[in-house]
Amino acid sequence: MTLKGRRILLGLTGGIAAYKSAELARALAKSGCDVRAVLTEAATRFVGTATMQALTGQTAWSDLWDPRVADNMAHIELSRDRDLIVVAPASADFIAKTAHGLADDLLSTLVLARRCPLLIAPAMNVEMWENAATQRNILALRDDGVTLAGPVAGDQACGETGMGRMLEAAAIVAEIEAFFQPKVLAGKRIVVTAGPTEEPIDPVRVITNASSGKMGFAVARAAREAGAEVTLIAGPVTQPTPPGVARVDVRTAEAMFKAVKAAVAGCDVFIAVAAVSDYRVANRAAQKIKKGAARGLRLELVENPDILAWVAKQKRAPFCVGFAAESEKLGAHAREKRARKGIPLLAANLAQEALGSDTNAITLFDDNGEHPLGRGPKIELARKLVAHMAALMARRRRAR
Ligand code: C5P
Repeated sequence: MTLKGRRILLGLTGGIAAYKSAELARALAKSGCDVRAVLTEAATRFVGTATMQALTGQTAWSDLWDPRVADNMAHIELSRDRDLIVVAPASADFIAKTAHGLADDLLSTLVLARRCPLLIAPAMNVEMWENAATQRNILALRDDGVTLAGPVAGDQACGETGMGRMLEAAAIVAEIEAFFQPKVLAGKRIVVTAGPTEEPIDPVRVITNASSGKMGFAVARAAREAGAEVTLIAGPVTQPTPPGVARVDVRTAEAMFKAVKAAVAGCDVFIAVAAVSDYRVANRAAQKIKKGAARGLRLELVENPDILAWVAKQKRAPFCVGFAAESEKLGAHAREKRARKGIPLLAANLAQEALGSDTNAITLFDDNGEHPLGRGPKIELARKLVAHMAALMARRRRAR
């Protein structure tokens, strides 16, 4: 939905990754974008203008002096009605030129004369990417407000392995979607907890919850996309840190509590997505426990602090959002939990539908009742949650 009607100028520079841009053009057009392709001379050695024309349904351009644009103004006209310029693949040469404001062909001239934002998906050999000059240029572009999508590490067309692979088309589409998210949390400081906690039994064994951290990481990502400054306090998970998010890794519930206490002071929103272990082991063994004890093994468990309830009780508490993973009676448990923790908003899901999966089905509970967000990818549900939360916060501000 975010991409429908967006007007994008898709620039292609020379590189083997340009074949992925044909797929990117197709995916963008399918999402309802108006895509206009501009190719450098080198890009046309990898994909033809005819291909890009067929996939976008409109003229693909590559010549600065194309007589079809009135008054030789192609370098200005072709980007004036655009919402965003996406350059994929962005070669080392294009990045260097853009960082220095050079304009010697149609694409670089359009980029220099642009009024709209620029997003680039770099693609190059690992040595070119790691070269100090490229890294300097990338930093300069970041400082200039250019958005970077990738690159990632992996096998390269040249046979080498390392950083410099262009993102796949679907991942670039996701970055463009992220770029267009409404900035409803601009200026807000947000703390998110995610993942499970691990409570040691002995040096090698733990009590934990089955939680992949995917939902919490999606929430952190969605909050960042909405313009917030996000601190993500994560239990032991293998998820990649969302771009632009500050991450603090913890293991136990007590460590998570300590990290939350340090992070929430003065923040605007606290979103507790973590599946915190309710209990920890009181009689934790210093050495690995051996099997064969005649009377079995008894673990003494003590309750962990409820982090969310503690934050919600603070004098100048941030806007608190809780998550509830239930195995049955979702509505009843969710309403009871929201009241008990004293929080304005609670997101509930059935554990069996969410655990480890990339999709979920969530219902929100607030003072106005319940709001089903439907089923979908976790990032889409996280964006809906962020939108609902921002609207609720704005309503509260107006009511004050
Ligand atoms: O009570 P229950 O664990 O089901 O509540 C779930 C909500 O409370 C989640 O938002 C979870 O992150 C939070 N929580 C917490 N600290 C705990 C237990 C749960 O912050 N010790």
